[in-house]
Parts: sequence; C-alpha cells; structure tokens
Amino acid sequence: TGYVTLDTGYKNTGATKSAITFLDGEQGILRYRGYPIEQLASKASFLEVSYLLIYGELPTTSQLENFKERIRKHTNLHEDIKKVFDGFPSSAHPMGVLSSAVSSLTAYYPGSIDPTANDDEVDMTIVRLMAKLPTIAAWSYRNSKGQPLMYPKPKLGYCENFLYMMFGQPNEDFELDPVVVEALNTLFILHADHEQNCSTSTVRIVGSAHASLYSSIAAGINALWGPLHGGANQEVIEMLEEIKASGISTKDYIAKVKTKEVRLMGFGHRVYKNFDPRAKIIKKACDDILNKLGVKDPALEIAKELEQAALSDPYFVERKLYPNVDFYSGIIYKALGLRSDLFTVMFAIGRLPGWIAQWKELRDAKEPIGRPRQIYTGYTERDYVSIDKRK
Ligand code: CMC
Repeated sequence: TGYVTLDTGYKNTGATKSAITFLDGEQGILRYRGYPIEQLASKASFLEVSYLLIYGELPTTSQLENFKERIRKHTNLHEDIKKVFDGFPSSAHPMGVLSSAVSSLTAYYPGSIDPTANDDEVDMTIVRLMAKLPTIAAWSYRNSKGQPLMYPKPKLGYCENFLYMMFGQPNEDFELDPVVVEALNTLFILHADHEQNCSTSTVRIVGSAHASLYSSIAAGINALWGPLHGGANQEVIEMLEEIKASGISTKDYIAKVKTKEVRLMGFGHRVYKNFDPRAKIIKKACDDILNKLGVKDPALEIAKELEQAALSDPYFVERKLYPNVDFYSGIIYKALGLRSDLFTVMFAIGRLPGWIAQWKELRDAKEPIGRPRQIYTGYTERDYVSIDKRK
C-alpha cells in the first residue's frame, strides 16, 4: 500500500541516521566519530579505535585499560567449540568456518539471544566477541593446517596475541616482529567501520529483527565474504598472481577489463568517486612494510602498473573508478605470511567493532524492523491447474 520508490542496490536510500562514521565520497574523506582516518591510522591502537566506535568517545587511560583487561579475560573459547572446527574439512574456506563458529556462540551464551537482555549483558557480549573473534580466526587457520591449536596468551596485546595464536608453536619461543604488529594494527583500524556498506547493513537488518548480536555478526561475516565486498582482497591477489603466471601484459589485462571480460578487482566503489582515503594510506604502508621486511613481491609492481594504466584511461576516468581499500591490502597480508583465503578474515576482525557499534546504535535508538518494499512484476492472478493438465 502507498507509494513505493524503487532503488535497487539502495544507491540513494538512507536506511538510518548514524553518528558513527562520516564518509564524503566526492572528496575522499573518512572520519570515525569525527576523527580523520589518517590521524587514527597513524596515532591510535586498534582497541582505542574500537572503543571510540562502540562507545562514542576516545577512551581515557583507565577506560582503555579496563576495556583491554575485560577483553583479555575472555580470549579463550569454550573447549567444546573445538568440535565446531573438527566438523569442517581442512579445505573449508575460513570465512565459512568463522561465521559458523560465531553463530555457535549463541549456544554457549544463551543469555545473548534474549532480546530483553539489559545493557550490562549486551556489553558482556560485545567484550566476548571482541575477545574471541581473533581466537576463532586463528583456530580455524590452525585446524586447516592440521596444526595444534594455540591457546591465547592474555598478557600479549590484541594484535600480538593474534599473531602468536596464528604462527606460534607449542614449547617454542615466539618472536614478534614490531613491523608486522604495527602493520596489522594499521590495517585493522583502516577496516574498522565504513558506514552503511553491505555487511554493516546486513548486521543492522538482522539486528532489527531483535536477533542476537552473535547472529547479526555471523550474518555480517557472510555478507563480507562476497567478492564484490570484503572478498575482493583475496580476489585482487589472485588476479595479480594470475597476471604474473600467464605473462599477460598489464596493458592487455586493462583491455580485457574494458571489454568487460573481467573486472579489475580492488577498483571502484559505490560511494567513493575519488581516491579511497584508506587506499592512499595502504599503498604507502605497503611500500614501507615490504621494504622493512625485505620482501620483494612482483605483485606490487603489477598492482602499481595496473593502477597507473587505469588512472589515465578514459574508461576508468569517466566512471570515476579508483583503487579501493582492497587493492593493496592483500599484498601486505601476503608479506606478513598470511594465506590468501585468510585476507577476508583479517577484514572481518578489523570490521568487528564497526559492526558492533552499528548494531548497538540501532538497539539504543530502538529502530523498527528493517523491511524493504518491492515493485511486484509477476502475474496478477491465475487459477490453479491440476498436475495432469499442466504442459
Ligand atoms: N572493473 C571494471 N569496471 C568496473 C569496476 C571494476 N572494478 N567497477 C565498476 N566498473 C564499471 C561497471 O562495469 C559500470 O560500467 P557501465 O556503466 O559501463 O555499466 C560502472 O563502472 C559502474 O559500476 P557498478 O558496478 O554499477 O558500480 P556499483 O556501485 O554497483 O559497484 C563495486 C561498486 C565496488 C561493487 C564495483 O566497483 C566492483 O565490483 N569493484 C570490484 C570489486 C571490489 O573491489 N570490491 C571492493 C569494494 S571496497 C571494499 C569493500 O566493500 O569491501
């Protein structure tokens, strides 16, 4: 009933009011709670930014310590959750394992599914999620390699502990490279929120049905997995490696993009019609990190050539297609020793505080259930035909 406006892909439809992230796609501006992404990426820690997104303000020293301490206490997983990992073949894509394990948390913390839970209980779920997602991610990786699962070392920082659980070995000293820790911290901050993107809108719409935070985040993880969204970071590195392996020139590859035979993954964005400010930071970080680690990756040269060719080509100029956050991030992840099917998992860990903040904002504002309308294009009415009379 009433007048329905059609806007497939929600290109012009605002679904909510939000005070979390400001994005100006024409000018390439991104701010979390008013703070420019450039400042946060160079000065803050990921947990500081997570606090800012979730609770609205940068934490004081004691607020941050308290937040960290609460997270530290909950990094372990219930022993039975190991069976969730065992249930998957080692070839399983870690994004599927990640969302399933997050869904399974509803079973271990049944209070979380109560829509009448009070704010303290909700806050407990927030802390548990922040604490457990890196453990789940690391365990799914270890399981896929047939390696022993590493229990968290709560004394370590957030990024340090994650790296330890991923790459440490029992009864062996684990040396953390500060360059790797710093790189991870920066990447997580750059991915932490991006207003009403596909996975965040998914989290909000699932949450709007008063589904639990765990269920909403699991849904967000599945949306993020798509190659047009977070899954693009895996696609980019695979594209660069394919270009290298096949020996095709970047010029010829760009020609294939222009005839729409392939998409240039890591390029284009629904909102940015200018440089993605995150891509600018990541490109510079990529050069720095590879230099510091002494890694020479031909993929970086190919990426730079593709970028240069695209930015001066009318196809990309007319359509305002620029590199996005995913174009260079995979090259960094690879240099840090991560397998390409884990890149989107990294994105999910980074995006978690944003998803949580958006779910909490929706809950605090008591937003109504999300329920888009449609323009019906099917038959008007017809009579049932019995099966023997159908052709
Ligand atoms: N390569 C080649 N052509 C492209 C690309 C690309 N990567 N992106 C858009 N175009 C073309 C598209 O074919 C269309 O051309 P035409 O007008 O001739 O039909 C025009 O540009 C507009 O594209 P669209 O698909 O209508 O734009 P959209 O806003 O619906 O899609 C996008 C945005 C990000 C899905 C798209 O640019 C894309 O598929 N990019 C590659 C995947 C990617 O890198 N995704 C990551 C996005 S950023 C981080 C994240 O969300 O996770």
